[in-house]
Amino acid sequence: MRFDILTIFPQFIDGNPYFEHSIIGRAIDKKLITVKAHDIRKYSKDKHKKVDDTPYGGGAGMVMACQPIFDAVKAVKKKNKGPVIFLTPHGATLTHSKVLKLAKLKNMILLCGRYEGIDQRIRDTIIDEEISIGDYVLTGGELPAMILIDAVTRQLPGVLHDDTSALEDSFTKKLNGKKEYPHYTRPEVFKKMSVPKVLLSGNHAKIEEWRQSHLSS
Ligand code: ADE
Repeated sequence: MRFDILTIFPQFIDGNPYFEHSIIGRAIDKKLITVKAHDIRKYSKDKHKKVDDTPYGGGAGMVMACQPIFDAVKAVKKKNKGPVIFLTPHGATLTHSKVLKLAKLKNMILLCGRYEGIDQRIRDTIIDEEISIGDYVLTGGELPAMILIDAVTRQLPGVLHDDTSALEDSFTKKLNGKKEYPHYTRPEVFKKMSVPKVLLSGNHAKIEEWRQSHLSS
């Protein structure tokens, strides 16, 4: 899967260790995903490479202007035919089922906003979807884009080990109801706190029964 990220801070993405290590780093090494950042400012036709302007009608803050975004998306679309997703707190909240739907795509273009917002004409024309990662406002869409990439990537075949994926499947059903059972690992006793005996028993039916009766949100 190919992710193209449009941002005025490509340095948040390029060379970010998050994309170089662990599961996401390995997915990139294995060419299961490609992540490419594009600097919206480079597309600005303004002589000072401005990407924002004051809002018509007045008010606080700056608005990201049409031209640089429009041209950046047009250029990126030559290589990426996926939907253009705008990360904004006003979008539909990203859920597990939405992540599964996105994981079926081949490519997507992620547009990161900054400032007060982007010109409505961009939203009306070239954006296919608006996604929020939660009901709070961040300084920009770059972290939300990375979170979306992380959540989608771990659903792609070959990214997680098979046993982890299988675990996830059964887990997900519980996740929908926000349920989880307690986890323990070695040592058996830590600061006088013991692991429940049933988990050491090897009796899988009993363990499953115990887990079901200890689900919590
Ligand atoms: N940009 C700023 N806040 C955001 C959020 N909560 N989700 C997605 N994009 C954002």
